[in-house]
Amino acid sequence: MVEFSLPKNSVVKKGQHFPAATDATRLKRVEVYRWSPDDDDNPRIDSYELDLDQCGEMVLDLILKIKDEIDSSLAFRRSCREGVCGSCAMNVNGKNTLVCIKAISEYKGTIKIFPLPHMEVVKDLVADMTHFYAQYASIKPWLETKTATPADHERLQSIDERRQLDGLYECVLCACCSTSCPSYWWNSERYLGPAVLLQAYRWLNDSRDESTGERLDELEDPFKLFRCHTIMNCTDTCPKGLNPAQAIGEIKKMLLIRQEG
Ligand code: SF4
Ligand code: SF4
Ligand code: FES
Repeated sequence: MVEFSLPKNSVVKKGQHFPAATDATRLKRVEVYRWSPDDDDNPRIDSYELDLDQCGEMVLDLILKIKDEIDSSLAFRRSCREGVCGSCAMNVNGKNTLVCIKAISEYKGTIKIFPLPHMEVVKDLVADMTHFYAQYASIKPWLETKTATPADHERLQSIDERRQLDGLYECVLCACCSTSCPSYWWNSERYLGPAVLLQAYRWLNDSRDESTGERLDELEDPFKLFRCHTIMNCTDTCPKGLNPAQAIGEIKKMLLIRQEG
């Protein structure tokens, strides 16, 4: 497992320290990466002492407490607070995760919070996802059909055909896997990365889709797919317990079967 912590614009300075209130009972030290297009001292690490007896149980609760009570200028993304929107992906103590479903109790000592690695930073913990979303759009993440829609019912699947999508449809596109992948760090301009490839496999594996050939044609490329070297960081880090490395292997297998057939 390769660990990492710093985003692209590094050489980090010590920042401000915010001590706990004098009546705090259960202290936790939290260090947070700060970078702002409006500041001169970029980037820096601010540190905060927080009272766990006055805070919720998740790492996101720590971040919300800092924003609400100490420093309202801290920027981060979050929405659902239930691990389903995928927006609160960050790097905590060297590993990417969704902070809303990550318990503070899982970390001993200081908690160090950084944006997703190897991404441009918009501000503080907000990574620029523009390229990642463009790559997602490039695999046509929707049902492609050629035959006419049945007149009296939807395009149906058997229970078994529907089951083939398990382990794929649950992906929340948080990018934890792609931004933990060394191949994606070095080649993200051309390599699609594990998140997008897992999604590509989701549509290849959908019994109702009628563009399998075209989808495989698009993926048969030394960079888009074959930069995966089975390092497995992606599967190790996925906060939803999915297996992008296996999905990538299945696409490679489909290409092989097509070649041989
Ligand atoms: S298995 Fe492939 S996609 Fe996953 S981390 Fe390794 S190189 Fe990246
Ligand atoms: S496979 Fe897992 S880590 Fe990757 S984008 Fe989907 S939910 Fe996030
Ligand atoms: S806030 Fe939606 S996944 Fe964390």
